[in-house]
Amino acid sequence: MVNGMKAVGLTRYLPVTDPQSLQDVDLLRPEPGERDLLVRVEAISVNPVDTKIRRSKGPDDHEAFPRVLGWDAAGLVEAVGSKVTFFQPGNEVYYAGSIIRPGSNSEYHLVDERIVGKKPRSFDMAHAAALPLTAITAYEALFDRMGISIEGESAGKTILIIGGAGGVGSIAIQIAKIATLRVIATASRPESQGWCRKMGADEVIDHTKSIPDQLQRLNCSMVDYILNNASTEQHWAQMCKVIRPLGRICCLVDTTEAVDLNALKKKSVNFAWEFMFTRPMYQTEDMMEQHKLLTQVACWVDAGMIQSTLTETLSPINAAHLRTAHAKLEAGHMIGKLVLTGWSS
Ligand SMILES: NC(=O)c1ccc[n+]([C@@H]2O[C@H](COP(=O)([O-])OP(=O)(O)OC[C@H]3O[C@@H](n4cnc5c(N)ncnc54)[C@H](OP(=O)(O)O)[C@@H]3O)[C@@H](O)[C@H]2O)c1
Repeated sequence: MVNGMKAVGLTRYLPVTDPQSLQDVDLLRPEPGERDLLVRVEAISVNPVDTKIRRSKGPDDHEAFPRVLGWDAAGLVEAVGSKVTFFQPGNEVYYAGSIIRPGSNSEYHLVDERIVGKKPRSFDMAHAAALPLTAITAYEALFDRMGISIEGESAGKTILIIGGAGGVGSIAIQIAKIATLRVIATASRPESQGWCRKMGADEVIDHTKSIPDQLQRLNCSMVDYILNNASTEQHWAQMCKVIRPLGRICCLVDTTEAVDLNALKKKSVNFAWEFMFTRPMYQTEDMMEQHKLLTQVACWVDAGMIQSTLTETLSPINAAHLRTAHAKLEAGHMIGKLVLTGWSS
């Protein structure tokens, strides 16, 4: 197809075991808007948001046009819109993108330059693609939502990171250590516990057992900050118990049950949601902060302060490999990040 491109899309919302759930499709290459980069995608990562959207409607819901998922990419800038100022063709970039635009599971992809960073020089495309969505989430949660000091003024305070070995946890542990916090991460299996320690966690406890009891045994009955990367309602009562007065809690996952916000009142605890798509979704005035933070994360990587969170690579990028990736994420025991690279010729 002239100006065509390979992509993986869905037209129906099906279980991942169904070969129709994600399909190889040929689409037209899109044209950049004013602030857009047209990126030739070389590597993508998979996040739980992809699987949640794939499952979000009933099997009777149809898309007239294939819907492309995927919100993590690394690639080469192929062309730029008329008002682009930060990038030029040939730049290597990494980014997550916007939930209200087509995703990055396509050979060519449009993204607003204000939410893109230059790829870390010391990472190849695969290692770079593992980072953006989770790094944006962790950075915004720690520094913007919970007000932790990036300059080290929170030194010695303690953060509990629930779900430490997954995609978000792996990078959140590392960013919290850059902020000189004491990090207590949770993981339930020897391999995920070992991974949390490799990412820099000072202590690891098990989220399938009593968190307050385990913290007591660490001589740390209360923590200053909690980042919960897992079920909000499952961990709510324990979080309320172990958060220090005037502490801060940040959650990422929608509740399916009501939680008791009053439980935080006596301790004057701040509760915050983090949704890393808020800035691009609402085109907030400060949306360029995501460009800045991805630039900061790339600097940390190139300075050797952040190690890769990539644990598994599948190649090439196609529907079969994406179905495999979705199935692994849906099992709920990811360690680090799964990346897909390259397109078959
Ligand atoms: N709001 C946002 O902007 C945003 C951004 C990114 C992600 N999220 C959401 O945050 C969640 C985590 O994302 P992710 O990318 O880190 O996922 P992930 O990589 O799939 O997380 C897997 C990890 O979760 C741990 N885990 C599983 N069940 C748990 C539980 N009940 N309590 C504590 N930990 C548990 C597992 O540890 P063990 O195997 O050791 O049990 C595993 O290492 C997802 O629901 C995702 O959709 C939201």
